Formats: sequence, structure tokens, C-alpha cells
Amino acid sequence: MKPTKKVFVTGGAGYIGSHTALSLLEAGYDVVVLDNLCNASQEALHRVEQLAGRALTFIEGDIRDRACLDKLFREHDIHAVIHFAGLKAVGESVSAPLAYYDTNVNGSITLCQAMLQAGVFRLVFSSSATVYGPEAPIPYIESMPRGATSNPYGASKSIVEQVLDDLVRSDERWSIAMLRYFNPIGAHSSGMIGEDPQGTPNNLMPYIAQVAVGRRSTLTVFGNDYATADGTCVRDYLHVMDLAEGHVSALDRLTLPGSHIYNLGTGQGLSVLQMIEAFERVSERQIPYQFASRREGDLAAFWADPSKAEKELGWQALRGLDEMIADTWRWQRQNPNGYRTEINTTSQGTS
Ligand code: NAD
Ligand code: WQD
Repeated sequence: MKPTKKVFVTGGAGYIGSHTALSLLEAGYDVVVLDNLCNASQEALHRVEQLAGRALTFIEGDIRDRACLDKLFREHDIHAVIHFAGLKAVGESVSAPLAYYDTNVNGSITLCQAMLQAGVFRLVFSSSATVYGPEAPIPYIESMPRGATSNPYGASKSIVEQVLDDLVRSDERWSIAMLRYFNPIGAHSSGMIGEDPQGTPNNLMPYIAQVAVGRRSTLTVFGNDYATADGTCVRDYLHVMDLAEGHVSALDRLTLPGSHIYNLGTGQGLSVLQMIEAFERVSERQIPYQFASRREGDLAAFWADPSKAEKELGWQALRGLDEMIADTWRWQRQNPNGYRTEINTTSQGTS
């Protein structure tokens, strides 16, 4: 019998990581998660195991801790690494740049050094559409150059992409996929795992969901004077399970040496007002909102050209807007306080 391949997932207790850990287990991989739990709960992984019907290995640790990484690689025969661990709040990165460069850049370099020593050369890296910068024409295509970045978070993603490009040029054993995510939203259809931001959500969809469930009173819409059809910003929202499955597809591609960039998005742009209207329709809840001035650094509109991922990975976002919202709402309703909520089966399915 063929031995099961083991995938090392950094940041696997987080939002995208936990959904990807589930997709990996379902695809037959064994999973080792390393997470320092600075923005996650181990409860997410317990629920992943429940959903998958089998266990994963969890190690509480930091990607900047070289000794911890070396031990992990000694103890596990790792086929490939999926690297999610990082800090992701754009605004916070402006006030705490050193923390962002330390975790996102230094952490990625430490990980690659440990991989090199362990002889593991397959890597999938979480990049972001933000690396295209403010001047790129839409839709974004992978062949466009990386653009200017207006905050340390975006800069850290751009720098790591550059580091990885240089790494594959230096040593042909490396095979690296850099996945540029657009705007992931939604949750697993069970409602058992989902996005659980600490404090006030920075992103649109968790904010809307917390208004719908009564945790917050009003959504603030940042800007209604953009040059878009309704004046609000347009983004490419994709279902987190589609994104998770994109990582499994990317793993299959890691037989080819070099670095490979893929946009993971739907190719369709939706405005903030369209998102609010869709949420109200699907959840049958009202979302009170007020307009405020633009949020610094926001671009008017962008979306992906996802055709390269379709052609080369055989991956496509399959889930539509209503499904993304229904799944977000089910997660939020069943877990009004995120992973701090006890699962109460009698309240499931009610609205
Ligand atoms: P998340 O915060 O939910 O997950 C990141 C995980 O990394 C968390 O579980 C956190 O505890 C862990 N972590 C942070 N620093 C660590 C460290 N030093 N050592 C070990 N673990 C550490 O975020 P997410 O939304 O799941 O994002 C995952 C990745 O995708 C990040 O790299 C993020 O920058 C990138 N990304 C996210 C989005 C998005 O909109 N969510 C978009 C583009 C790219
Ligand atoms: C979407 C739209 C806001 C909150 C961010 C990062 C990006 C990537 C994904 C990691 C914008 C508006 C939001 C609110 C609002 N992350 N909005 N009221 O800014 O496209 O992308 O997350 O890589 O790098 O920048 O996503 O969800 O924050 O905002 O009106 O309370 O919703 O102005 O137009 P964004 P978002």
C-alpha cells in the first residue's frame, strides 16, 4: 500500500488554514499543523477532526522558532509545506511594522531555511492580490509585475514572493506555488468552522455577519463616492472552501521545479452594497448601515483573471454568492461568539 503523504500546515488553526486542513484530510493527506494560536483557537482543529472523522497532529509553536521547526522535520516525514502563518491586519501593520516584517518575512525565511536543511522543497505560500499594487489594470493577471505597496502587510507579501523567486533561481530542487488570494469569505457548510476575528472585524463579511447576529449595531460603509456603478468599492469574493480546495490542487502541481503564481478568485467583482443586499436577502435579516468617508489605502475596484489556475491546476471557484453568504450566516448563527460558543445542537438550523 502507498504510504500516506504528510503535509505540514503552518497557521493551520486560522481561518483559511483550518478549512484547508479539512480539505487535505478529506483528500487523503495526513496533516501536521504548527500554530502559535496568536489569532486562532485550537477548538477549530478539534472541529476539523470531527468533520474529517480522523485526527491530525497539532504542535503549538512559532514559525520563527528554528529549533521547533527542525524538531518537527526530524519527527515527521513531510511531503510538502503549506505556509499560512502570518499577521494579516493591514491597519495594524502600519502601527506595528516590525512585528509584521518579523512574523511574515523573517518567519518565512526561517521556515525555508529549516525546509532546506530537512530536504523538503515543496512549498505553497499564501500571497495576496494586494501585491498587484494600486496601478495595475483590472482584471489582475499573474504576468503583471508586482506593484507598489502602501502598507507593511502588503510589502511583507511582496518581499516574501521576491525571496521565493530568488530561492528557486538559486536551487532547482525547489518547487513553489504562490497563491494570490482575492477576498475569501464563507465557512464550511456544516457551520462548525468559520472565520472568528478577535475584537472588531477589519473585513467586510465578518462585520456584516456580526451585525446580523446582533453583536454590533451598524455597519459603516467606507466611501460611496468611488467611480463604480453604485459608488462603493468592488472586490472579488470567493468561498473559503473553494480557496481550500485550490491548495489541494496546487499541491499536485509541485512536481514542477520553479515558482508558479496563481490567482485564486472568481473573476467577478461585487460592490459593498451588493454584498449587503445579498446578505439581507439570504439571511432575512436587516443590516443597518451608514456611509462614512473612504478608508485609507482602499482601491476602488479589482478582481482576478482566474484562467491560469483553471488551465494549469484544473481549479475553479464553484460556489456562488448565495452559498458563500448562507454558509457565513450558518456559522455566525450557530457560533455567535465564534469558537468561544458552546455547540448547542438544539439551536442549530434556527434563525
Ligand atoms: P488567520 O489569522 O486566521 O490565520 C493565520 C494563522 O497563523 C493564525 O492561526 C495564527 O495564530 C497563526 N500565526 C500567526 N503568527 C504565527 C507565528 N509566528 N507562528 C505560528 N503561527 C502563527 O488568517 P487567514 O485569513 O487564515 O490567513 C492565512 C494566510 O493567508 C495569511 O498569511 C494571510 O496573510 C493570507 N491571506 C489572507 C487573506 C484573507 O483575506 N483572509 C487574503 C490574502 C492572503
Ligand atoms: C472590502 C470592502 C472596504 C469593512 C483586505 C486586505 C487584503 C486581503 C483581504 C489579506 C472595502 C469595505 C470593509 C467595513 C466597509 N487580506 N468595508 N466596512 O480591503 O478588499 O482586503 O482583506 O491579504 O490585503 O486589504 O477587504 O473585507 O476589508 O473590505 O465598507 O467595516 O468593504 O472599504 O471596500 P479588502 P475588506
